[in-house]
Amino acid sequence: MKIAVYPGSFDPLTNGHIEIIKRSLSVFDKLIVVVASNPLKKHAFTIEERLEMLREATKNIPNIEVDFTEGLTVKYARTHGAVALVRGLRAVTDFEFEFQMAAANEFIDNGIEMVFLMSRAESGFISSSTVKELYKNGVDITPLVPESVVRVWRNKK
Ligand code: COA
Repeated sequence: MKIAVYPGSFDPLTNGHIEIIKRSLSVFDKLIVVVASNPLKKHAFTIEERLEMLREATKNIPNIEVDFTEGLTVKYARTHGAVALVRGLRAVTDFEFEFQMAAANEFIDNGIEMVFLMSRAESGFISSSTVKELYKNGVDITPLVPESVVRVWRNKK
């Protein structure tokens, strides 16, 4: 069984992430979606909120598990029997960050492959920051994120 890990901040989860999740499952037998921390970002949602959004949004997708790590994602992949880390690429601007992260991951453990899926054109403009900006300014974000994100957001104190 080929297992992959899809790590991300998911702050919050967007339909762009969901698209990558679904397409990863046409390549791998099982996907573990792992909430991790990006030290470059100040996260708006707690790990629990991000896990809740992900668990609810993926509950009807088979062969998926949702988890979190406070450590290195490549180490998480190794200890959970995964062969690859999956990441989505939207534009050339994503490339530099992903290239550096891939190099660091390879330095840590070169037995875990990095697999990049190109976002579909219609998801290309969606980002967690854009969604947060739109929400703050009262724009309807329901076409851009799963229902669970809207629900957790509305209940957020
Ligand atoms: N469609 C739409 N948007 C997408 C997307 C897609 N397919 N894929 C990514 N994005 C967007 C997200 O919305 C997000 O937008 P933002 O920059 O406005 O917040 C951005 O692209 C990337 O976010 P995401 O994929 O959720 O997470 P990230 O890039 O912040 O995650 C980690 C980085 C957590 C994976 C990385 O920091 C990490 O692995 N941390 C743990 C420590 C570690 O192992 N470090 C590596 C070795 S040093």
